[in-house]
Amino acid sequence: MPSSHTAIRVAGLHKSFRMPRQRVHTFKERALHPLRPTRYDELRVLRGIDFEVREGEFFGIVGRNGSGKSTLLKCLAGIYGVDGGTIEIAGALSPFIELGVGFNPDLTARDNVALNAVMMGLTPRQARARFEEIIAFAELERFTDQKLKNYSSGMQVRLAFSLMVQSDPDVMLIDEVLAVGDASFQQKCIDVFHRLRDEGKTIVLVTHAMAMVERFCHRAMMLSDGHITHIGDPAEVGRTYMSENLHSARDDRGAIRGEEVRLRDAWVSDAGGQRVDTIAQGEPMRLHVAIEAIALVRGPAITIWLTNEDQVRVFSVGAREDGGGALADLEPGERTEFTVELHNPLSAGRYYLGASVTRGSAGLDVLLLRQRAADLLSYGADLYGLVAVAHVQSLTRTRSREAVA
Ligand SMILES: Nc1ncnc2c1ncn2[C@@H]1O[C@H](COP(=O)(O)OP(=O)(O)OP(=O)(O)O)[C@@H](O)[C@H]1O
Ligand SMILES: [Mg+2]
Repeated sequence: MPSSHTAIRVAGLHKSFRMPRQRVHTFKERALHPLRPTRYDELRVLRGIDFEVREGEFFGIVGRNGSGKSTLLKCLAGIYGVDGGTIEIAGALSPFIELGVGFNPDLTARDNVALNAVMMGLTPRQARARFEEIIAFAELERFTDQKLKNYSSGMQVRLAFSLMVQSDPDVMLIDEVLAVGDASFQQKCIDVFHRLRDEGKTIVLVTHAMAMVERFCHRAMMLSDGHITHIGDPAEVGRTYMSENLHSARDDRGAIRGEEVRLRDAWVSDAGGQRVDTIAQGEPMRLHVAIEAIALVRGPAITIWLTNEDQVRVFSVGAREDGGGALADLEPGERTEFTVELHNPLSAGRYYLGASVTRGSAGLDVLLLRQRAADLLSYGADLYGLVAVAHVQSLTRTRSREAVA
Protein backbone atom coordinates (compact mmCIF):
# COMPACT_ATOMS: atom_id res chain seq x y z
CA MET A 1 0.00 0.00 0.00
CA PRO A 2 1.33 3.45 -0.86
CA SER A 3 2.23 5.58 2.15
CA SER A 4 1.21 9.16 2.66
CA HIS A 5 4.76 10.38 2.04
CA THR A 6 5.54 11.89 -1.31
CA ALA A 7 8.27 10.19 -3.32
CA ILE A 8 8.11 12.31 -6.46
CA ARG A 9 6.66 15.78 -6.81
CA VAL A 10 6.53 17.44 -10.21
CA ALA A 11 5.16 20.93 -10.57
CA GLY A 12 4.73 23.06 -13.67
CA LEU A 13 7.20 21.02 -15.68
CA HIS A 14 8.00 22.31 -19.15
CA LYS A 15 10.35 20.69 -21.63
CA SER A 16 10.96 21.66 -25.23
CA PHE A 17 13.38 20.54 -27.89
CA ARG A 18 14.82 22.78 -30.55
CA MET A 19 14.60 21.16 -33.94
CA PRO A 20 16.78 22.59 -36.72
CA ARG A 21 14.41 23.63 -39.47
CA GLN A 22 16.74 23.42 -42.39
CA ARG A 23 19.75 21.28 -42.79
CA VAL A 24 22.74 21.90 -44.97
CA HIS A 25 22.95 18.62 -46.76
CA THR A 26 25.81 18.81 -49.19
CA PHE A 27 29.30 20.19 -49.24
CA LYS A 28 28.30 22.37 -52.13
CA GLU A 29 25.44 23.94 -50.21
CA ARG A 30 27.68 24.38 -47.23
CA ALA A 31 30.30 26.04 -49.38
CA LEU A 32 27.72 28.30 -51.00
CA HIS A 33 25.99 29.27 -47.75
CA PRO A 34 28.59 28.96 -45.03
CA LEU A 35 26.95 31.45 -42.74
CA ARG A 36 23.33 30.72 -43.34
CA PRO A 37 21.89 30.61 -39.85
CA THR A 38 20.17 27.43 -38.82
CA ARG A 39 16.64 28.16 -37.78
CA TYR A 40 14.89 26.16 -35.16
CA ASP A 41 11.40 24.98 -34.52
CA GLU A 42 10.47 24.59 -30.93
CA LEU A 43 8.93 21.26 -30.09
CA ARG A 44 7.05 21.69 -26.84
CA VAL A 45 6.88 18.15 -25.52
CA LEU A 46 5.82 18.78 -21.90
CA ARG A 47 3.66 21.84 -21.36
CA GLY A 48 3.06 22.22 -17.68
CA ILE A 49 2.95 18.83 -15.96
CA ASP A 50 1.89 18.55 -12.32
CA PHE A 51 1.64 15.29 -10.42
CA GLU A 52 2.80 13.47 -7.32
CA VAL A 53 3.76 9.88 -6.71
CA ARG A 54 3.57 8.58 -3.17
CA GLU A 55 6.11 6.31 -1.54
CA GLY A 56 5.34 2.69 -2.29
CA GLU A 57 3.17 3.57 -5.22
CA PHE A 58 3.27 1.72 -8.51
CA PHE A 59 2.53 4.50 -10.95
CA GLY A 60 1.84 3.97 -14.65
CA ILE A 61 2.37 6.42 -17.48
CA VAL A 62 0.68 5.81 -20.80
CA GLY A 63 0.29 7.76 -24.01
CA ARG A 64 0.75 7.47 -27.71
CA ASN A 65 4.14 7.30 -29.41
CA GLY A 66 5.81 10.66 -29.11
CA SER A 67 3.58 11.91 -26.30
CA GLY A 68 6.57 12.61 -24.09
CA LYS A 69 6.66 9.64 -21.72
CA SER A 70 10.35 8.90 -22.15
CA THR A 71 11.14 12.60 -22.08
CA LEU A 72 9.34 12.89 -18.75
CA LEU A 73 11.27 9.95 -17.28
CA LYS A 74 14.53 11.43 -18.51
CA CYS A 75 13.66 14.72 -16.84
CA LEU A 76 12.90 12.85 -13.62
CA ALA A 77 16.18 10.99 -13.91
CA GLY A 78 18.08 14.23 -14.47
CA ILE A 79 19.27 13.16 -17.90
CA TYR A 80 17.48 16.13 -19.45
CA GLY A 81 17.43 19.58 -17.97
CA VAL A 82 13.99 21.18 -17.77
CA ASP A 83 12.84 24.50 -19.20
CA GLY A 84 10.53 25.29 -16.34
CA GLY A 85 8.99 23.87 -13.20
CA THR A 86 10.37 21.75 -10.41
CA ILE A 87 11.04 18.09 -9.73
CA GLU A 88 11.59 16.74 -6.24
CA ILE A 89 12.51 13.14 -5.56
CA ALA A 90 12.86 11.58 -2.11
CA GLY A 91 15.31 8.71 -1.84
CA ALA A 92 17.82 7.02 -4.09
CA LEU A 93 16.81 6.89 -7.70
CA SER A 94 17.58 4.01 -10.01
CA PRO A 95 19.32 4.95 -13.19
CA PHE A 96 17.02 5.30 -16.08
CA ILE A 97 16.42 2.16 -18.03
CA GLU A 98 16.23 2.55 -21.69
CA LEU A 99 17.90 0.76 -24.47
CA GLY A 100 21.58 1.51 -24.45
CA VAL A 101 21.44 4.41 -22.01
CA GLY A 102 24.20 4.11 -19.47
CA PHE A 103 25.88 1.30 -21.34
CA ASN A 104 29.09 1.56 -23.26
CA PRO A 105 28.75 -0.50 -26.44
CA ASP A 106 32.48 -1.06 -26.73
CA LEU A 107 32.81 -2.68 -23.33
CA THR A 108 31.85 -6.23 -22.41
CA ALA A 109 28.79 -6.95 -20.30
CA ARG A 110 31.12 -7.67 -17.38
CA ASP A 111 32.78 -4.26 -17.58
CA ASN A 112 29.50 -2.47 -18.15
CA VAL A 113 27.98 -4.05 -15.08
CA ALA A 114 31.02 -3.12 -13.02
CA LEU A 115 30.90 0.45 -14.28
CA ASN A 116 27.17 0.87 -13.83
CA ALA A 117 27.09 -0.74 -10.44
CA VAL A 118 29.67 1.71 -9.21
CA MET A 119 27.76 4.59 -10.75
CA MET A 120 24.71 3.37 -8.91
CA GLY A 121 26.54 3.63 -5.65
CA LEU A 122 27.71 0.07 -5.05
CA THR A 123 31.29 -0.39 -3.93
CA PRO A 124 33.48 -2.34 -6.38
CA ARG A 125 33.42 -5.26 -3.95
CA GLN A 126 29.61 -5.23 -3.77
CA ALA A 127 29.48 -4.91 -7.51
CA ARG A 128 31.61 -8.03 -7.98
CA ALA A 129 29.54 -9.95 -5.50
CA ARG A 130 26.34 -9.04 -7.28
CA PHE A 131 27.71 -9.58 -10.74
CA GLU A 132 26.86 -13.27 -10.82
CA GLU A 133 23.33 -12.59 -9.66
CA ILE A 134 22.84 -9.86 -12.22
CA ILE A 135 24.03 -12.08 -15.03
CA ALA A 136 22.07 -15.07 -13.81
CA PHE A 137 18.84 -13.14 -13.59
CA ALA A 138 19.39 -11.78 -17.09
CA GLU A 139 20.31 -15.31 -18.25
CA LEU A 140 23.35 -14.00 -20.02
CA GLU A 141 25.98 -16.31 -18.54
CA ARG A 142 27.27 -17.30 -21.94
CA PHE A 143 27.68 -13.73 -23.07
CA THR A 144 29.46 -11.96 -20.23
CA ASP A 145 32.61 -11.31 -22.21
CA GLN A 146 30.89 -10.17 -25.34
CA LYS A 147 30.88 -6.49 -26.21
CA LEU A 148 27.52 -4.88 -25.74
CA LYS A 149 27.33 -3.68 -29.30
CA ASN A 150 26.92 -7.32 -30.25
CA TYR A 151 24.00 -7.79 -27.88
CA SER A 152 20.48 -7.82 -29.26
CA SER A 153 18.14 -5.13 -27.96
CA GLY A 154 16.35 -7.74 -25.87
CA MET A 155 19.62 -8.83 -24.26
CA GLN A 156 20.54 -5.24 -23.43
CA VAL A 157 17.23 -4.63 -21.75
CA ARG A 158 17.55 -7.84 -19.74
CA LEU A 159 20.91 -6.69 -18.50
CA ALA A 160 19.68 -3.19 -17.68
CA PHE A 161 16.61 -4.48 -15.87
CA SER A 162 18.62 -7.00 -13.91
CA LEU A 163 21.12 -4.34 -12.93
CA MET A 164 18.38 -2.03 -11.78
CA VAL A 165 16.71 -4.65 -9.62
CA GLN A 166 20.00 -5.65 -8.04
CA SER A 167 21.00 -2.10 -7.22
CA ASP A 168 17.97 -1.92 -4.93
CA PRO A 169 17.02 1.75 -5.26
CA ASP A 170 14.07 3.44 -3.53
CA VAL A 171 12.57 4.86 -6.70
CA MET A 172 12.65 3.09 -10.04
CA LEU A 173 11.90 4.59 -13.40
CA ILE A 174 11.15 1.94 -15.98
CA ASP A 175 10.52 2.57 -19.65
CA GLU A 176 8.97 -0.21 -21.69
CA VAL A 177 11.05 -3.14 -20.53
CA LEU A 178 8.49 -5.69 -21.43
CA ALA A 179 8.13 -4.77 -25.05
CA VAL A 180 11.46 -6.21 -26.11
CA GLY A 181 11.79 -9.20 -23.81
CA ASP A 182 10.70 -12.67 -24.83
CA ALA A 183 7.87 -14.48 -23.07
CA SER A 184 10.01 -16.08 -20.37
CA PHE A 185 11.74 -12.82 -19.51
CA GLN A 186 8.41 -11.01 -19.46
CA GLN A 187 7.18 -13.50 -16.89
CA LYS A 188 10.31 -12.88 -14.84
CA CYS A 189 9.76 -9.14 -14.95
CA ILE A 190 6.19 -9.68 -13.84
CA ASP A 191 7.37 -11.75 -10.88
CA VAL A 192 9.80 -8.99 -9.98
CA PHE A 193 7.08 -6.36 -10.27
CA HIS A 194 4.98 -8.34 -7.80
CA ARG A 195 7.87 -8.55 -5.37
CA LEU A 196 8.83 -4.88 -5.69
CA ARG A 197 5.23 -3.86 -5.19
CA ASP A 198 4.97 -5.97 -2.06
CA GLU A 199 8.24 -4.54 -0.77
CA GLY A 200 6.79 -1.06 -1.10
CA LYS A 201 9.17 0.27 -3.74
CA THR A 202 8.15 3.35 -5.64
CA ILE A 203 7.95 2.51 -9.30
CA VAL A 204 7.13 4.63 -12.30
CA LEU A 205 6.38 2.41 -15.26
CA VAL A 206 5.97 3.63 -18.81
CA THR A 207 4.20 1.09 -20.92
CA HIS A 208 1.90 0.51 -23.85
CA ALA A 209 0.58 -2.69 -22.30
CA MET A 210 -2.70 -1.73 -20.65
CA ALA A 211 -2.94 -5.14 -19.01
CA MET A 212 0.21 -4.29 -17.04
CA VAL A 213 -1.24 -0.96 -15.99
CA GLU A 214 -4.44 -2.57 -14.75
CA ARG A 215 -2.62 -5.39 -13.04
CA PHE A 216 0.14 -3.57 -11.22
CA CYS A 217 -0.47 0.12 -10.95
CA HIS A 218 -2.08 1.79 -7.98
CA ARG A 219 -2.62 4.83 -10.19
CA ALA A 220 -1.85 5.81 -13.73
CA MET A 221 -1.80 8.87 -15.92
CA MET A 222 -2.10 9.53 -19.60
CA LEU A 223 -0.09 12.11 -21.50
CA SER A 224 -1.20 13.71 -24.70
CA ASP A 225 -0.32 16.97 -26.43
CA GLY A 226 2.08 17.84 -23.66
CA HIS A 227 -0.53 17.63 -20.91
CA ILE A 228 -1.84 15.12 -18.43
CA THR A 229 -5.23 14.28 -19.86
CA HIS A 230 -6.19 11.64 -17.29
CA ILE A 231 -4.88 10.63 -13.92
CA GLY A 232 -6.25 8.21 -11.38
CA ASP A 233 -7.76 4.76 -11.54
CA PRO A 234 -5.53 2.56 -13.74
CA ALA A 235 -8.40 0.64 -15.30
CA GLU A 236 -10.06 3.87 -16.30
CA VAL A 237 -6.86 5.33 -17.70
CA GLY A 238 -6.30 2.07 -19.60
CA ARG A 239 -9.77 2.20 -21.10
CA THR A 240 -9.38 5.84 -22.05
CA TYR A 241 -6.08 5.10 -23.70
CA MET A 242 -7.50 2.16 -25.61
CA SER A 243 -10.45 4.07 -26.90
CA GLU A 244 -8.42 7.16 -27.82
CA ASN A 245 -5.58 5.24 -29.41
CA LEU A 246 -7.55 4.25 -32.42
CA HIS A 247 -7.25 5.56 -35.89
CA SER A 248 -10.68 4.42 -36.86
CA ALA A 249 -14.22 5.62 -36.78
CA ARG A 250 -16.50 5.15 -33.84
CA ASP A 251 -20.08 4.13 -34.34
CA ASP A 252 -23.05 5.08 -32.20
CA ARG A 253 -22.66 2.08 -29.87
CA GLY A 254 -19.18 3.16 -28.88
CA ALA A 255 -17.57 0.50 -31.03
CA ILE A 256 -14.51 0.90 -33.15
CA ARG A 257 -15.06 0.21 -36.78
CA GLY A 258 -11.65 -0.54 -38.15
CA GLU A 259 -10.53 0.43 -41.58
CA GLU A 260 -8.44 -2.71 -41.87
CA VAL A 261 -10.66 -5.32 -40.27
CA ARG A 262 -14.29 -5.51 -39.45
CA LEU A 263 -16.29 -7.57 -37.06
CA ARG A 264 -18.71 -9.70 -39.02
CA ASP A 265 -20.34 -11.37 -36.06
CA ALA A 266 -19.99 -12.26 -32.40
CA TRP A 267 -22.15 -14.74 -30.55
CA VAL A 268 -22.45 -17.36 -27.87
CA SER A 269 -23.61 -20.89 -28.54
CA ASP A 270 -24.56 -23.85 -26.39
CA ALA A 271 -23.41 -27.46 -26.54
CA GLY A 272 -25.69 -28.15 -29.48
CA GLY A 273 -24.26 -25.24 -31.48
CA GLN A 274 -27.43 -23.15 -31.09
CA ARG A 275 -27.05 -19.41 -30.61
CA VAL A 276 -28.07 -18.47 -27.08
CA ASP A 277 -28.20 -15.40 -24.90
CA THR A 278 -28.69 -17.25 -21.63
CA ILE A 279 -26.64 -20.10 -20.30
CA ALA A 280 -26.74 -22.12 -17.08
CA GLN A 281 -23.74 -22.30 -14.77
CA GLY A 282 -21.49 -25.22 -15.51
CA GLU A 283 -22.97 -25.86 -18.94
CA PRO A 284 -20.68 -26.15 -21.97
CA MET A 285 -20.61 -22.98 -24.03
CA ARG A 286 -18.73 -21.45 -26.92
CA LEU A 287 -17.78 -17.84 -27.54
CA HIS A 288 -17.32 -16.88 -31.17
CA VAL A 289 -16.05 -13.89 -33.11
CA ALA A 290 -15.87 -13.69 -36.86
CA ILE A 291 -13.76 -11.00 -38.48
CA GLU A 292 -12.94 -10.07 -42.02
CA ALA A 293 -9.82 -8.31 -43.24
CA ILE A 294 -10.51 -5.32 -45.46
CA ALA A 295 -6.85 -4.68 -46.17
CA LEU A 296 -3.70 -6.68 -45.57
CA VAL A 297 -3.13 -6.94 -41.81
CA ARG A 298 0.32 -7.97 -40.70
CA GLY A 299 0.74 -10.04 -37.53
CA PRO A 300 -2.67 -9.40 -35.99
CA ALA A 301 -3.73 -10.56 -32.54
CA ILE A 302 -7.35 -11.44 -31.82
CA THR A 303 -8.63 -11.29 -28.27
CA ILE A 304 -12.01 -12.22 -26.92
CA TRP A 305 -13.26 -11.55 -23.37
CA LEU A 306 -16.21 -11.32 -21.08
CA THR A 307 -16.90 -8.36 -18.83
CA ASN A 308 -19.51 -8.16 -16.14
CA GLU A 309 -21.91 -5.29 -15.54
CA ASP A 310 -19.27 -3.40 -13.56
CA GLN A 311 -17.02 -3.53 -16.62
CA VAL A 312 -14.65 -5.89 -14.85
CA ARG A 313 -13.01 -8.25 -17.28
CA VAL A 314 -13.74 -11.72 -15.95
CA PHE A 315 -11.38 -13.44 -18.33
CA SER A 316 -9.74 -12.87 -21.65
CA VAL A 317 -8.36 -15.27 -24.24
CA GLY A 318 -5.97 -14.43 -27.05
CA ALA A 319 -5.92 -16.42 -30.25
CA ARG A 320 -2.76 -18.45 -30.69
CA GLU A 321 -1.19 -19.94 -33.72
CA ASP A 322 1.99 -22.01 -33.72
CA GLY A 323 2.50 -21.21 -30.05
CA GLY A 324 2.82 -17.44 -30.60
CA GLY A 325 0.36 -14.68 -29.75
CA ALA A 326 0.44 -12.96 -33.14
CA LEU A 327 -1.29 -14.63 -36.03
CA ALA A 328 -0.17 -15.01 -39.60
CA ASP A 329 -1.00 -12.04 -41.84
CA LEU A 330 -4.59 -11.63 -42.92
CA GLU A 331 -5.09 -11.17 -46.62
CA PRO A 332 -7.71 -8.70 -47.85
CA GLY A 333 -11.07 -10.43 -47.87
CA GLU A 334 -9.89 -13.21 -45.60
CA ARG A 335 -12.34 -14.29 -42.93
CA THR A 336 -11.32 -15.69 -39.57
CA GLU A 337 -13.50 -17.20 -36.91
CA PHE A 338 -12.11 -17.51 -33.40
CA THR A 339 -13.94 -19.80 -30.99
CA VAL A 340 -13.34 -20.41 -27.30
CA GLU A 341 -14.94 -23.42 -25.70
CA LEU A 342 -15.50 -23.69 -21.96
CA HIS A 343 -17.95 -24.59 -19.23
CA ASN A 344 -19.84 -21.56 -18.03
CA PRO A 345 -17.99 -20.46 -14.87
CA LEU A 346 -19.88 -17.19 -14.42
CA SER A 347 -21.76 -16.12 -11.37
CA ALA A 348 -25.37 -15.38 -12.10
CA GLY A 349 -25.71 -12.04 -13.86
CA ARG A 350 -25.34 -10.14 -17.08
CA TYR A 351 -22.14 -10.29 -19.13
CA TYR A 352 -20.83 -8.77 -22.32
CA LEU A 353 -18.73 -10.46 -24.93
CA GLY A 354 -15.94 -8.18 -26.09
CA ALA A 355 -13.45 -8.61 -28.90
CA SER A 356 -10.48 -6.77 -30.34
CA VAL A 357 -8.02 -7.08 -33.16
CA THR A 358 -4.68 -5.46 -32.46
CA ARG A 359 -1.28 -5.31 -34.01
CA GLY A 360 2.18 -4.81 -32.52
CA SER A 361 3.98 -6.41 -29.62
CA ALA A 362 2.02 -4.76 -26.84
CA GLY A 363 -1.30 -4.57 -28.65
CA LEU A 364 -0.42 -0.97 -29.40
CA ASP A 365 -2.34 -0.59 -32.61
CA VAL A 366 -5.98 -1.26 -32.03
CA LEU A 367 -7.61 -2.10 -35.33
CA LEU A 368 -10.95 -3.11 -33.98
CA LEU A 369 -12.51 -2.93 -30.55
CA ARG A 370 -15.98 -3.90 -29.44
CA GLN A 371 -16.78 -3.90 -25.75
CA ARG A 372 -20.30 -5.20 -26.19
CA ALA A 373 -20.33 -7.43 -29.21
CA ALA A 374 -22.91 -9.74 -27.64
CA ASP A 375 -24.87 -9.97 -24.38
CA LEU A 376 -25.10 -13.00 -22.18
CA LEU A 377 -27.09 -13.88 -19.10
CA SER A 378 -25.68 -16.53 -16.79
CA TYR A 379 -28.05 -18.19 -14.34
CA GLY A 380 -27.73 -20.61 -11.47
CA ALA A 381 -27.40 -20.75 -7.71
CA ASP A 382 -24.02 -18.98 -7.47
CA LEU A 383 -24.70 -15.29 -7.14
CA TYR A 384 -21.61 -13.94 -5.48
CA GLY A 385 -18.04 -13.51 -6.67
CA LEU A 386 -16.97 -13.20 -10.26
CA VAL A 387 -16.99 -16.86 -11.07
CA ALA A 388 -18.53 -20.04 -9.77
CA VAL A 389 -15.66 -22.47 -9.44
CA ALA A 390 -15.92 -26.23 -9.67
CA HIS A 391 -14.90 -27.44 -6.24
CA VAL A 392 -15.03 -30.16 -3.63
CA GLN A 393 -15.94 -29.16 -0.09
CA SER A 394 -16.01 -30.74 3.31
CA LEU A 395 -17.37 -29.68 6.65
CA THR A 396 -16.20 -31.06 9.97
CA ARG A 397 -17.94 -30.38 13.26
CA THR A 398 -16.41 -31.00 16.67
CA ARG A 399 -17.57 -30.04 20.13
CA SER A 400 -15.12 -29.27 22.88
CA ARG A 401 -15.67 -31.03 26.23
CA GLU A 402 -15.81 -27.75 28.16
CA ALA A 403 -18.65 -26.55 26.02
CA VAL A 404 -20.59 -29.73 26.76
CA ALA A 405 -19.95 -29.58 30.53
N1 LIG B 1 16.66 14.41 -27.58
C1 LIG B 1 15.64 14.82 -28.33
N2 LIG B 1 15.82 15.79 -29.26
C2 LIG B 1 14.80 16.23 -30.00
N3 LIG B 1 13.54 15.76 -29.92
C3 LIG B 1 13.31 14.80 -29.04
C4 LIG B 1 14.33 14.27 -28.20
N4 LIG B 1 13.80 13.32 -27.41
C5 LIG B 1 12.50 13.24 -27.73
N5 LIG B 1 12.20 14.14 -28.71
C6 LIG B 1 10.86 14.37 -29.30
O1 LIG B 1 9.95 14.58 -28.24
C7 LIG B 1 8.72 13.96 -28.50
C8 LIG B 1 8.40 13.01 -27.37
O2 LIG B 1 9.29 11.92 -27.42
P1 LIG B 1 9.32 10.77 -26.32
O3 LIG B 1 10.45 9.88 -26.66
O4 LIG B 1 9.30 11.38 -24.98
O5 LIG B 1 7.92 10.05 -26.58
P2 LIG B 1 7.34 8.73 -25.93
O6 LIG B 1 6.03 9.10 -25.33
O7 LIG B 1 8.33 8.09 -25.04
O8 LIG B 1 7.06 7.82 -27.21
P3 LIG B 1 7.16 6.22 -27.41
O9 LIG B 1 5.84 5.67 -27.01
O10 LIG B 1 7.34 6.09 -28.89
O11 LIG B 1 8.32 5.71 -26.64
C9 LIG B 1 8.86 13.30 -29.85
O12 LIG B 1 8.30 14.16 -30.80
C10 LIG B 1 10.34 13.17 -30.04
O13 LIG B 1 10.68 13.25 -31.39
MG1 LIG C 1 9.39 6.27 -25.16
